[in-house]
Amino acid sequence: MTDHLVLVGMSVSDVDARDELRAEAENRQATLAFLQMGDPSLSAELTRLADAGATTITLVGIDRGPIAPGHSWLRRIAAHWWRERAGARPDVLVTTDLGVAVPITGAEPGLTSAAWADVSGHRHQVMLCRGPRCTAMGAVDGLRAMVLAIIEHELTDDDVLLVHTGCQFPCNQAPVVSVQPDDVWYGGVDATVAAEIVAEHLVAGRVVDSHQLPRNKGPETC
Ligand code: FES
Repeated sequence: MTDHLVLVGMSVSDVDARDELRAEAENRQATLAFLQMGDPSLSAELTRLADAGATTITLVGIDRGPIAPGHSWLRRIAAHWWRERAGARPDVLVTTDLGVAVPITGAEPGLTSAAWADVSGHRHQVMLCRGPRCTAMGAVDGLRAMVLAIIEHELTDDDVLLVHTGCQFPCNQAPVVSVQPDDVWYGGVDATVAAEIVAEHLVAGRVVDSHQLPRNKGPETC
């Protein structure tokens, strides 16, 4: 093995399109890795290929989701791996948005920045269930609508932190979203409801009664 091509899913939603992406990778005689959420991670795939004797690895970022990070993150992660790689180190090239493959030199920015030292000042954490049932019932549509509504209402990191979770348990109500620290749970969160949660709950401070789920707390133990 010498030259190798890797397609890298960039968005948190790309893991949901795994089969489609894998077919595209096979079509291009490439393998598939994920920048986040999916397996194998980009670092794991780079290590596998390097251990197998690859001398040149070209990365192409692809995304089908609503909140993919910029392609600069592909360079950051690849450069971090390249600098940390203990064994034989292949040439790694990252394809830009314009389709130009640019080699990693090791001088690229790392994984830390002074701007990322502090916990954000968010008032709400919105927990989006990405468990099996919610995913099958269209959680990604709610996610997409929620991201667009957050942008439309100009909410920032000081307003809301979106968190993707595994199963939150009330699977029959899928897709499920909970809003913390308000301890408000919603079911049947399709694109319309997701946008309503942003406009009503996060912006106006009013719970969306039509989709709120009952919350039965266990007995106090202390
Ligand atoms: S999969 Fe979402 S609540 Fe179970």
